[in-house]
Amino acid sequence: MSYLRPNIDRMHAYVPGEQPKVAGLVKLNTNENPYPPSPKVVAALRDAIGDGPTLRLYPDPVASALQAKIAALYGFKPEQVLVANGSDEVLTLALRAFVGEGQRVAYAMPSYSLYPVLADIQGAKKLELEMNPDFTLPERLFREHAPLKLVTSPNAPSGVAVPTKTLDRLCAASRGVVLIDEAYADFADDNALRLVKKHRNALVARTLSKSYSLAGMRVGFAIGHKALIEGLMKVKDSYNVNRLSQVAALAALGDRAHFQANVRRVKATRERLRDAMLAFGFDVLPSATNFLFAKPPAAMTAKKFYEALRARNILVRWWSDPRVSDRVRISIGTDAETDRLLAATLNILAEVK
Ligand SMILES: Cc1ncc(COP(=O)(O)O)c(C=O)c1O
Repeated sequence: MSYLRPNIDRMHAYVPGEQPKVAGLVKLNTNENPYPPSPKVVAALRDAIGDGPTLRLYPDPVASALQAKIAALYGFKPEQVLVANGSDEVLTLALRAFVGEGQRVAYAMPSYSLYPVLADIQGAKKLELEMNPDFTLPERLFREHAPLKLVTSPNAPSGVAVPTKTLDRLCAASRGVVLIDEAYADFADDNALRLVKKHRNALVARTLSKSYSLAGMRVGFAIGHKALIEGLMKVKDSYNVNRLSQVAALAALGDRAHFQANVRRVKATRERLRDAMLAFGFDVLPSATNFLFAKPPAAMTAKKFYEALRARNILVRWWSDPRVSDRVRISIGTDAETDRLLAATLNILAEVK
């Protein structure tokens, strides 16, 4: 006999990328930013901790200072912003607020593997469509009805961005909420924020985990119509973002120069790595993110490449799912890490020849 709800009993938990504690490991498997956050973040945290007197107090329940900062930064009203414990929490709250038990949540795979897990937790029905072979959205996603549709753009693991005009068409074609998961949008040339001004059902989720180097602090946010944000607010934990995370996020968003330099650097390394891998004979999709999705030359499978890198203390991500098993996902590291990756790749290619 199980004590669990039947849907929890049946479901598989999300499998996060490994976080091994191995010295000297080049860790390119979870799309973290390779550079530290703004020094202003560290200073603000030190200041906020002091001798600890404020730690006994609960944080601001809606992170109002952060909410106002995000609203001003992107040209929205504070009531159109929800601050969350990572953008993963935005996704959880969206399922909770918009999808009743047995109702449908629609998305196209391969994409973020957390979506089916959250649907299972909610007891929702998964309308899991197949992405087109070129990683564009399937037409059925436009036609089918669901109270919530989830679209990652730029997508993971492909790295390919969905054109904003396609997302515009999806919002117009959908009666339910369209959540656009823009975890990687800061590394792209365009984003869907303007759709929030046009469509009452468009909800954009963002994170500070990638472009602001704050994955460890767990801060994300949602921007949408006031009515959607009100709904999400109702179902969140009272104090969903801790005091120090609010401080860190506010300082990170305040240092535009650091943010811009960080993103520029990651994008430059991404293009350098892509060019080098193309020259080695890999098929590498154009990326609008901080990672590349690469298929090794015919002499070697992606699994083999992943294992050979691992044997050289370089960790990338590979999935056995047949839809993506011919590629590895490589997070963009520092220039030194990229040089190590390229040297190892040359070495591995020479071995299989
Ligand atoms: C598509 C996508 N959405 C959301 C997230 C989660 O981000 P956060 O750290 O803000 O929870 C990730 C993290 O890898 C992601 O790949």
